[in-house]
Amino acid sequence: MSAVSRVSPAQAEEIARRHYGVDGSAERLSAEFDDAFRLVAGDSSWFVKVGLADGAACAASTAVSFQTAVLLHLAEAAPGLPVQRVVPALDGRPEVSVAGNGHHRLVRMTSWLDGELLSRADNSPELRRDLGATLAKLSVALRRFSHPGALRTHRWDLQHLDRLRGPLADLPGDGVLPEVAAALGTAVPSGVRAGLEDYLDRFESVLRPRLAAVPVQVIHTDFHGENLLCDGARITGILDFGDALTGPVAMDVAVAACYQLGRGPDVLGSALDVVAGYHGVDPLAEADLELIAGFLVGRVAARIILSQWHAMREPSNQGYLLRRTPQAIELFAALRLLTPEDIVGRLRAVLSA
Ligand SMILES: Nc1ncnc2c1ncn2[C@@H]1O[C@H](COP(=O)(O)OP(=O)(O)O)[C@@H](O)[C@H]1O
Ligand SMILES: [Mg+2]
Repeated sequence: MSAVSRVSPAQAEEIARRHYGVDGSAERLSAEFDDAFRLVAGDSSWFVKVGLADGAACAASTAVSFQTAVLLHLAEAAPGLPVQRVVPALDGRPEVSVAGNGHHRLVRMTSWLDGELLSRADNSPELRRDLGATLAKLSVALRRFSHPGALRTHRWDLQHLDRLRGPLADLPGDGVLPEVAAALGTAVPSGVRAGLEDYLDRFESVLRPRLAAVPVQVIHTDFHGENLLCDGARITGILDFGDALTGPVAMDVAVAACYQLGRGPDVLGSALDVVAGYHGVDPLAEADLELIAGFLVGRVAARIILSQWHAMREPSNQGYLLRRTPQAIELFAALRLLTPEDIVGRLRAVLSA
């Protein structure tokens, strides 16, 4: 965190009492930037997110932040989708602005969704297909949604993968931190940096020019196992629209598929279950395939580069930031054994199955 101090559970309880009329006890949830809490009162639970509000959002008290607007839209447009419902404050507003510790913070309370984090659950082909189908329903529901806040970008925006060149150049040696190399043991692949540079070159020459012609809409961009809840057989919760932005649907499919790579004998097979599930609900076109293939490898590259780059800047949080980096390096090495055409061919076979 920067100079902004954290909101304590006691402060979150006070906010809930004062602005929502809920007298409960707050338990901190792990969150990357914002403060997030589970608030429990009797048999009921809520989710409380306390984010940083920029000056403009505070000044325009009627402006609803992008994330909240997404949730409000989905409640109307796709009531069957398992997303958190916004709980209005006592004054009827979907967000409240609070001043504390010298900063303005934007607070949103939502329903608590039941389920187990997908990252902790047993994974199966059926569950992966349901994950893809759930993402497809979300894409369809967001297709006609617009909001001024949706025109944003951030570090994980794969449409601007060329921006990873700077962070890659900052990494030492072959692009693998000593801690990550130690976790990989004797299995450290060679030529990691060269492979990543190769990928970024290909992105700029082949994929980037295609992006200009592709339709875009609001996409989630962070469909991984720590942002999804499940009951073992089905996805029961879609969490965390904090990284949503405007981009091609292919990027969302690729991110979701990326986190399911390597769960079977061949590196791609389990990720293709996600694509099959998606295609069954919102049919993909031939033109999407090259982008999905490119973004799939691109997200793995981004995971390798950004997790290590952040870990260099925040050594106290290295364990958390690097928890999946060794696996990403192994996946990247396995994907490099395939040509882009191989990957597109496997995707095409899913579409025609
Ligand atoms: N409605 C909810 N039901 C259950 N767990 C939730 C809910 N909302 C958030 N969580 C838990 O809180 C964590 C952090 O919330 P999230 O919105 O993903 O914030 P971050 O941007 O920090 O990842 C999630 O990974 C999940 O474990
Ligand atoms: Mg999250």
